[in-house]
Amino acid sequence: MADLYERALAAAEHIRSLHEGRPVLGIILGSGLGNFAAQVEGATTIDYGEIPGWPLSTVEGHSGKLVMGTIGGVDVAVMQGRVHAYEGYSMNEVTFPTRVLGLLGCKGLIVTNAAGGINTSYGEGTLVAISDHINLTGMNAAVGPNEPRFGMREGTGYRFFDMTVAYSARLRKLAHAEAEKQQIPLPEGVYIAVLGPSYETPAEIRVFRTLGADLVGMSTVHEVIVARHMGMEVLGISLVTNMAAGVLDRVIHHEEVMEIGRRVEAQFSSLVKALVPQVAGTIAEQAG
Ligand code: HPA
Repeated sequence: MADLYERALAAAEHIRSLHEGRPVLGIILGSGLGNFAAQVEGATTIDYGEIPGWPLSTVEGHSGKLVMGTIGGVDVAVMQGRVHAYEGYSMNEVTFPTRVLGLLGCKGLIVTNAAGGINTSYGEGTLVAISDHINLTGMNAAVGPNEPRFGMREGTGYRFFDMTVAYSARLRKLAHAEAEKQQIPLPEGVYIAVLGPSYETPAEIRVFRTLGADLVGMSTVHEVIVARHMGMEVLGISLVTNMAAGVLDRVIHHEEVMEIGRRVEAQFSSLVKALVPQVAGTIAEQAG
């Protein structure tokens, strides 16, 4: 069987055979945020099932499509839905799409997710710029033989690689400025990733707060690790769909996670749509 690099390359080549544009920015849409893909102009929509090697989501509410096209004149590859480790997928499967985005030529990645709010200054529906993460999943997507061919430019693709600047400060700055312009509150926060699929206990959330986490979720960190291995610059945005366990005196339902996404969709779309050309322009200036 072909190795991971060759399989990811085959997927990228298949996508290239279906769509002419060459994306410079990848966008991964989290739970409830999938409708953002409607912003893509001149779209070629590819079912995940059509792409060789691409993992298929088993979770309701996570549709699986890759939408290629442009936003604000910038070539993008938008992932509507992702797979998670809690579905039983291996780290290589969870991060396969991110590898493919890199091989397609994306130099930047906007990664979004639904998250529980640990920081009590947040509320349901708050958008948060991720400043850093804590990977508590016990897994790391870079485990296994190192594949230097995944490095997209000098200084990347190494066995050991930096995570000091996992979430680009200059891209966050752009996000804050645009949010302010649009009068959308956009606090920053540290995202802690757990394996799931059970939500956390209140005791776990108290521990996570002590550890310095503001948000909790079950995705993102592995994609970001792989993106950094490849040298992609990352902007992370969380949507607080619910306050984390024990913060409010009530239980957490998956349905409300999806519902909040629909409620905040307009704000989220308007923010990210405006950010796409700015992020692409900044990354093109000089690799960060
Ligand atoms: N915990 C973990 N993941 C989540 C949550 C949560 O409360 N809400 C949305 N994704």
